[in-house]
Amino acid sequence: MPKLTSAIDLGSAAFSQNKAFMEALIAEFRGYEAKVRENSESKRGKFEKRGQLLPRDRVSLLLDRGAPFMEIATLAGLKMHDDDGKKNVAGGGSIAGIGYVAGKRCLVTATDSAIKGGSVSPMGLKKSLRLQEIARKQKLPIVALAESAGANLLYQSELFVEGGRTFANQARMSAAGIPQITVVHGSSTAGGAYMPGLSDYTVVVRGKTKIFLAGPPLLKAATGEIATDEELGGAELHYNIAGTAEYMAEDDAHGIETAREIVDHLPWSAPVEAEAGTQPFYDIEELMGIVPEDAKKPYDIREIIARITDGSDFLDFKREFGASTVCGHARVDGHAVGILGNNGPIDPDGAVKAAQFIQLCCQSDTPLLFLMNTTGYLVGRDAETGGIVKHGSKMIQAVANATVPKVTIVVGGAWGAGNYGMCGRGFDPDFIFSWPTAKVGVMGPEQAATVMKIITEEKFAKMGQQIPDGMTDQMAQKIIDQMSPETTALYATARLWDDGIIDPRDTRRVVSLALSVCADGRKRQLNPTQFGVARG
Ligand code: COA
Repeated sequence: MPKLTSAIDLGSAAFSQNKAFMEALIAEFRGYEAKVRENSESKRGKFEKRGQLLPRDRVSLLLDRGAPFMEIATLAGLKMHDDDGKKNVAGGGSIAGIGYVAGKRCLVTATDSAIKGGSVSPMGLKKSLRLQEIARKQKLPIVALAESAGANLLYQSELFVEGGRTFANQARMSAAGIPQITVVHGSSTAGGAYMPGLSDYTVVVRGKTKIFLAGPPLLKAATGEIATDEELGGAELHYNIAGTAEYMAEDDAHGIETAREIVDHLPWSAPVEAEAGTQPFYDIEELMGIVPEDAKKPYDIREIIARITDGSDFLDFKREFGASTVCGHARVDGHAVGILGNNGPIDPDGAVKAAQFIQLCCQSDTPLLFLMNTTGYLVGRDAETGGIVKHGSKMIQAVANATVPKVTIVVGGAWGAGNYGMCGRGFDPDFIFSWPTAKVGVMGPEQAATVMKIITEEKFAKMGQQIPDGMTDQMAQKIIDQMSPETTALYATARLWDDGIIDPRDTRRVVSLALSVCADGRKRQLNPTQFGVARG
């Protein structure tokens, strides 16, 4: 396969400036991730006093030593609801991702009960639903380490009804043949009681687990009955009498060991890893200096491709036809992949080329990797005459209906319908991660401000009225001020428009793992039943 040739000057001022810009953005999102950990860590004393492990330590104990763990949605809900982006940063209230347990690849999720009692915020719920979607689609067993105060009562109206979906999903996954294992480390109240109830295997921890529909205060208020929490929902009750739990653990570590043993005994094949590919010819580290701070400055997406693909090889597809839409074949860590990228707006030729390329990849069962940096589809008289709507629709049809694995990395602009054509969240990519340089929106803030300015000017002209002095400028500024922070990678990741922000240098590893997960999921045969496994 032809090797790409880089035109990047590593010694140039532009490279250093781009690198400094990227480093600052990485420091910003890593800083927020550190705040989540500090927030949880601040409760260490409380947990130790109670003889419990902190949730992050539980996850470490569960995962196989030295195996990768790809965290998902680490900054879900950032600066939303009671996540203030300062001291109380919650990471969506859970530590979750794809990792290895007893040699098997699993979806691992742990409630961060050291933050707001592990209560579920609206974005925490969205994160849980996304995790379930990943497990269902990629056929991954779920291991959950639970301890939760249930719905965050301050925001119950925003999550109560949709929250039911997590339980429906549990029931459907059990029926689909996806095993779910839950260790209940502490409180699992009200709706949360159904989480272990609907798991296929439940482990309780002596003296710590509390599973009940109503705790002592609520029970007293509802019926007048007086009972201790141990009598209502302790581990002994669920293990010895009620039969909600299959296994009793003596402490957190034992509970986690039990979960590992359950996974170990599942006849679930370990993933078949592709043979490791050759490293890119160009140094992955150089990804730091490619994207300019000024998004208007163009760069060749092949510079990124050259630092992701095996041997920096890339077989360009119709290179000169619709040239600003880049398509081509490559391998990423041994996985064959069809790559689509952007070197400018998607014009009619670029759109049909992309549609054809996607269809060819589907014909040969080749996964698709989208490297998104798009200002959208080309506008203007020429583009319209050239059938941009018709040709753009073909590309959108191809992306929407492609059944091969789709992985999207938003490296820059994700503007307008280009976001759709390049397989943004709405097009259900199997995985979608962003670089910290991602920008997402219907259009750029300046463009939106100009559009609104023109519309307002035309409105006044139609009415035959004079526009008050400075009115449209003020309006434009207001739009820019409001929209600018709404188009950042941090804003997008808070809302689960992606599965997380990644360091560009991790792109190859992330894409490789994602492709491996997809390949494994597509091949795996499950043993479905109609109703899932009901507990005796
Ligand atoms: N919604 C919102 N916030 C909650 C919450 C809930 N359901 N449950 C607890 N919190 C908050 C607390 O206000 C506290 O906030 P702070 O850190 O700002 O002070 C934090 O979470 C920790 O709560 P705390 O009670 O100190 O933790 P704990 O570990 O000692 O006890 C519980 C945990 C779950 C036993 C206890 O918080 C509880 O009983 N919560 C209510 C559970 C419930 O009835 N839920 C029903 C929802 S469907």
